[in-house]
Amino acid sequence: MTSTVTDQRPHRIAIFPGSFDPITNGHVDIIRRALRLFDGIVVAVLQNAAKQPHFSPEERVAIIREVFAGEAGVEVDTFDGLLVDYARRRQAAAIVRGLRAVSDFEYEMQMAHMNRHLSPTVETVFLIPDETNSFLSSRLVKEVFSLGGDVAAFVPPAVHRRLQETREATGGGPRAGR
Ligand code: PNS
Repeated sequence: MTSTVTDQRPHRIAIFPGSFDPITNGHVDIIRRALRLFDGIVVAVLQNAAKQPHFSPEERVAIIREVFAGEAGVEVDTFDGLLVDYARRRQAAAIVRGLRAVSDFEYEMQMAHMNRHLSPTVETVFLIPDETNSFLSSRLVKEVFSLGGDVAAFVPPAVHRRLQETREATGGGPRAGR
């Protein structure tokens, strides 16, 4: 009798949550590192975060999907409410967060402890980006861009193109409420 060997290993996914307004090369770096540890990464865009985001949640999802087009291990979704509830619903093995510098540590520890209190079985895994990405943040990218600086080195081409489009659409001024 022939026996079939099946892979019984569970499909382990991790949630990479954030605002991603917009996704930067630092985020992409963390996602690629996380893909080496997990079978799948769900990039989870927080809905209703900042009052005046540059890109709407739907735009951010579309951009991130474009960045990872054709990569089966990356799913892009939105979430609302508590992150741990979303992680539980998705049966995630872990929440992934990036740690760029010591300055991130306090905020990230607070969140990790709060999330552990809310849901003791969901682990938070911290990954460290390449040092070339350690100074990057969405906030700085937007600030430099809004003041006319070149941000092409800090964001994926899809983000750069969309930023240029918004600049052309607004003539350099701020965008209307997202
Ligand atoms: O990229 P950001 O803005 O630093 O991401 C922050 C995020 C989205 C991870 C955090 O604000 C979050 O998890 N919000 C969901 C609401 C929640 O669960 N709050 C309690 C976490 S301590």
